[in-house]
Amino acid sequence: MTFSLGSVVPWGRSFHEYLLFFDLRDDELHKRVLGCADGPAGFNSELTARGGSIVSCDPLYQYSGEEIRSRIDVCYPTIHEQVATNRNLFVWDTIHSPEQLRDWRFSAMNVFLADYEKGRRDGRYCAATLPYLPFAADSFDLAICSHLLFYYSDMLSRDCHDAAIREMLRIAPEVRIFPLVDLNGRVSRYRDALITTLKKTGFEVTIRDVRYEFIRGGNQMMTITRKT
Ligand SMILES: C[S@@+](CC[C@H](N)C(=O)[O-])C[C@H]1O[C@@H](n2cnc3c(N)ncnc32)[C@H](O)[C@@H]1O
Repeated sequence: MTFSLGSVVPWGRSFHEYLLFFDLRDDELHKRVLGCADGPAGFNSELTARGGSIVSCDPLYQYSGEEIRSRIDVCYPTIHEQVATNRNLFVWDTIHSPEQLRDWRFSAMNVFLADYEKGRRDGRYCAATLPYLPFAADSFDLAICSHLLFYYSDMLSRDCHDAAIREMLRIAPEVRIFPLVDLNGRVSRYRDALITTLKKTGFEVTIRDVRYEFIRGGNQMMTITRKT
């Protein structure tokens, strides 16, 4: 898969949102976490500040902080317009307006940008593209992936989903994915078939409701574990 800065729309969520949509408890924050497709989210920075252990991987990290910041600024007006036009796809209970959404997202992305160059030097932001990751088997306890798999079902094939999930399971015994709906808020066309295939090939799959719903109907998270 080719990747260029001009084809990505960087948009990052906060530490608090990650806790909610991955249903992460306090006693899980000591785990070695691999954040796949973390983009400009604030999770890595804040977890690191709390003493946690995390590496984020995303092809976006081949670019400098300045390049990512510029791309965010270029993309933001289009994102704003799309959110405003499609307001009914979202639940506005916690975030009340597109303007408040902008403030939340920019706050999270500024947390990321302030940490990014140091984190890159420390090896916490790694340029890598699913379904191939440059990590040894079992080098993490938990791999998480938000707003890529299932969400981009129109752009990533079923085979790519399958390979990406298995790659994460090679590296960590537990994988969590959120959300399970696509960009239009429909349950991903790959969800059920992938559950069946994964269960048949030695994995346990559970779906649970989480305390986070911004995309209407998108309040479910998938956990996949190796059978012991
Ligand atoms: C919508 S953003 C989600 C960012 C973050 N996970 C969040 O929820 O705030 C999607 C991210 O997926 C990254 N991405 C796209 N294709 C990828 C791939 N094949 N492997 C890993 N990351 C990818 C993009 O660069 C982008 O940063």
